Amino acid sequence: MKVLVVAGARPNFPKIAPIMREFSRVESIGCKLVHTGQHYDARMSRVFFEDLELPEPDFFLGVGSASHAEQTARVMIEFEKVVLAERPDVVLVVGDVNSTLAAALVAVKLGVRVAHVEAGLRSFDSGMPEEINRKLTDHVSDWLFTTCEDGETNLRNEGIAGSRVCPVGNVMIDTLRWCESLARGRKSPGKLGLDAKGYALVTLHRPTNVDDPRMFERILGALIQIAGHLPVVFPIHPRSRCRLAEFGLQSRLDAEPGLRLCEPLNYLDFLGLLADARLVLTDSGGIQEETTVLGVPCLTLRENTERPITITTGTNVLVGLEPTAIVENSLAAIRGEWKTGTIPPLWDGHAAGRIVDRLLRDFGLP
Ligand code: UD1
Repeated sequence: MKVLVVAGARPNFPKIAPIMREFSRVESIGCKLVHTGQHYDARMSRVFFEDLELPEPDFFLGVGSASHAEQTARVMIEFEKVVLAERPDVVLVVGDVNSTLAAALVAVKLGVRVAHVEAGLRSFDSGMPEEINRKLTDHVSDWLFTTCEDGETNLRNEGIAGSRVCPVGNVMIDTLRWCESLARGRKSPGKLGLDAKGYALVTLHRPTNVDDPRMFERILGALIQIAGHLPVVFPIHPRSRCRLAEFGLQSRLDAEPGLRLCEPLNYLDFLGLLADARLVLTDSGGIQEETTVLGVPCLTLRENTERPITITTGTNVLVGLEPTAIVENSLAAIRGEWKTGTIPPLWDGHAAGRIVDRLLRDFGLP
C-alpha cells in the first residue's frame, strides 16, 4: 500500500506524528510525507518536526501565505504533480486547514482514495473557513476516522454511509501521551519564573477574534484585567502579532507587567506550560482537547465549538467574547471553582494504531 500523508499547518504536525510512526512499523506500507508549506516560519513548522521526531518531508510544496483561494489553489497545483508522479493508493489528510481540503480534492479527482483523520467535527458556523474545509473533505473521503461520537452523528446526519465512518479516537492525544513526561521534564513554567498552577496561558489566532480591531482590543482588555490577579502567558501566533502591530495595540500590552507576550512556542515547551497552567484561555481547537485530557480548566473564547465533547465530558466552557464573561469565568477558575471532567472514550494514546489496522484490513494486508 502506497500512502501519501499531507500536512501543512501547525496543528497538523502533532496529528501526523503518531500515524507516521505506526506506518513506519509496517513493511507492507510505503509512506511518504508531503509538507505543503502553508506554515513556513521555523516556530510554526520546523520545531515541531524536531520535537515530534518527524522524518524530513519527501516533498515540500512551498505554498506559503495568501488569500484562501490562492493558497488552496497553489496546494492543488503543486500537489497534483506529486500525486501524478507517485500514484499512491491512499492520500491521508488530517484536520481542517486549507491544505487538508486542497489535497483531498486533488486526490479524489485523480481517482485516489482519501483518508480523513479527525472527520465529522462540526461547529455549524459556515463563517469559519475550517467548517467549509471539514465538510467538503469529509464528503470526498473514503475513510472518515472520527475522534468521538458526535462526529459520527454529524456524518450520519449528512447522509454519509456508515461503512465509511471509522471511530478510532484522537491522534492528538496519542502525541500528548507520547511526549507528556518529556514535556513536563522541560520545566517550562520555572524557566519563565512561574510556579506550577500560578499562571494563565492564552492562545488567540482566529480571524473572528484578531482581525477586527474592536474585538481584539476588547479581548485584550479582559486579559489585562485577569493579569491583575495572576500572571498571563501569551505566545503569539504570527497572524495575531501582525494585527497587534497593525492596530497599534502592542505598546499597551508591553506596559502590562502581569502579561508575558512571547513568540510561538515549540510543542514540548507549550505542552509543559499547558499541563501546569491554572487555566487556559484559547480559540484553538486542539487545545480544547488537550486541556480536557490534562484536566486543566479551559475557557474557549468563541461563540461555538466543533468539539462539544470537551464541554459535555471535559473541562471546557464556551465563554464567548464578552469581556465580563471572560473575566468572571477566569476568576472562578482561579478560585478553583471549575468542573474536573473525564476523558472521552478512545482518547487513550492508541488512535493511530487503529487507523493503520483499519487500512491494512481493507487492503487485505498482514
Ligand atoms: C491556519 C488554519 C487554522 C489553524 C491555524 C493554526 C486555515 C484556513 N486556517 O490559520 O485552521 O487553526 O492555521 O495556526 O487553514 N504566517 C506567518 N508565518 C507562518 C504562517 C503564517 O507569518 O508560518 C502569517 C501570515 O501573515 C499569514 C497569517 O499568518 O497570512 C495566517 O496564516 P494562514 O496559514 O493563512 O492561517 P492561520 O491563521 O495560521
